[in-house]
Amino acid sequence: MKKGEVIDLVNRDLGDEHAATLRYLIHGYLEGEDTPIGASLLSRAREEMWHMHWLGMIVGQLGAEPNLVPAAYPYDPTNRVTIFKSYVEYEEKLIPHYNGEADRVDDPHIKRVLQREAWESAIHARKFQRILDKLSPEEAKGRPGGEAKLPKEFLDKLQKEIASKYTEMLQHIRYSWVFQKEGILGWQLMDQAMEKMKQLAHFAEDVAGDGIPPNFKQGQVDTSVTIGLALKKALEDVQNAREGHLGFHKDGEVKKHPGLVINLDLTVQQEEYQAAEIKDWTKNK
Ligand SMILES: [Fe+2]
Ligand SMILES: [Fe+2]
Repeated sequence: MKKGEVIDLVNRDLGDEHAATLRYLIHGYLEGEDTPIGASLLSRAREEMWHMHWLGMIVGQLGAEPNLVPAAYPYDPTNRVTIFKSYVEYEEKLIPHYNGEADRVDDPHIKRVLQREAWESAIHARKFQRILDKLSPEEAKGRPGGEAKLPKEFLDKLQKEIASKYTEMLQHIRYSWVFQKEGILGWQLMDQAMEKMKQLAHFAEDVAGDGIPPNFKQGQVDTSVTIGLALKKALEDVQNAREGHLGFHKDGEVKKHPGLVINLDLTVQQEEYQAAEIKDWTKNK
């Protein structure tokens, strides 16, 4: 298979894995990470992130631009039975899809990754089937989420935080894929991407805890092709995010949520740390 075809194929799969990550994350947060169904979904979401990561690394290795647009994840939202049936169906369809692709590519690493995506999708289908089999009558007829109790304005602010941290996180993950040949810097960027995922989770959990699906709305992701420009943008973003969080901290509604206050304090300190680190890396670039 020609290089361009491999890139297109892997990039399409990247969009699918991204879609699965978001679907299981959102659903998992809505169920609550302290519930067996929620914990299981978040665990699947983490595995989908790995799937995304392997594909993104391949695109980066091939010197191409990774596709950061999630594909559609079709599912029937009527109740938990229809939702989990959709998930089983989605994962089962991926098995022949990935195996077929693996047969067509020549590179042994890419082949193995695609085969692994196939057999892990098979495991996912089985795990979702098990949830389906164990649903209580109550769970079966219900669906995740509910009526919001938080003031709309406050919810909108939290959704904005989710969107901007999600964008920052995608940008960093892209940097780590595209600049993987920069050695240790690629790892460091990946490390910061992971931290951003955790910060994103703080806000997403609060929104979902109120019964509302977190809105993973992607902003403009920087596509710098030189590491110097990328680091400059990363630094600006994290500094702006920190300023925004310091302002958010003063919001009257925030004060009513002690858990969020702690997470904001943590996030602000982590952002200071990240900015200092990036400044250091920039010195040598
Ligand atoms: Fe996957
Ligand atoms: Fe999966």
